[in-house]
Amino acid sequence: MHSLLFLLFMASTAQASEVGQVHPDQLENLVRQDCGACHGMTRKGGLGPDIRAQTLSGRDPSDLAEVIKNGIPKTAMPPWGPLLSDAEINWIAQYLLKEPPK
Ligand code: HEC
Repeated sequence: MHSLLFLLFMASTAQASEVGQVHPDQLENLVRQDCGACHGMTRKGGLGPDIRAQTLSGRDPSDLAEVIKNGIPKTAMPPWGPLLSDAEINWIAQYLLKEPPK
């Protein structure tokens, strides 16, 4: 049987960047650069408000995910739902709450 080959094949396809899959490195970059364009590279605020972990502390991650997914109408905060999967958005919401900005 070629089950080992099959497993290797599956493992290598899983590495490829697929829409909807969570790739922490890519999401970290996205937060730094895309969110950072408005919220600052260290998230301490700019055009958008301060979204550092210390500031958001105590907030419900699912509320934050909702804001990230749908944006805030009539403000500059864009909806990320068209670009990111729910899994990615949830990852970002958790990340904002935990990870001190680098
Ligand atoms: C084009 C500018 C812009 C970009 C890009 C942007 N934001 Fe925002 N964001 C804003 C603005 C402006 C607000 C505040 C809107 C308001 O309520 O007046 C906001 C609000 C928020 C809030 C709510 C903060 C709170 O205290 O309730 C969160 C969370 C947030 N953004 C996360 C993100 C994340 C995560 C990204 C990247 C995926 C991102 N934003 C990208 C402009 C932006």
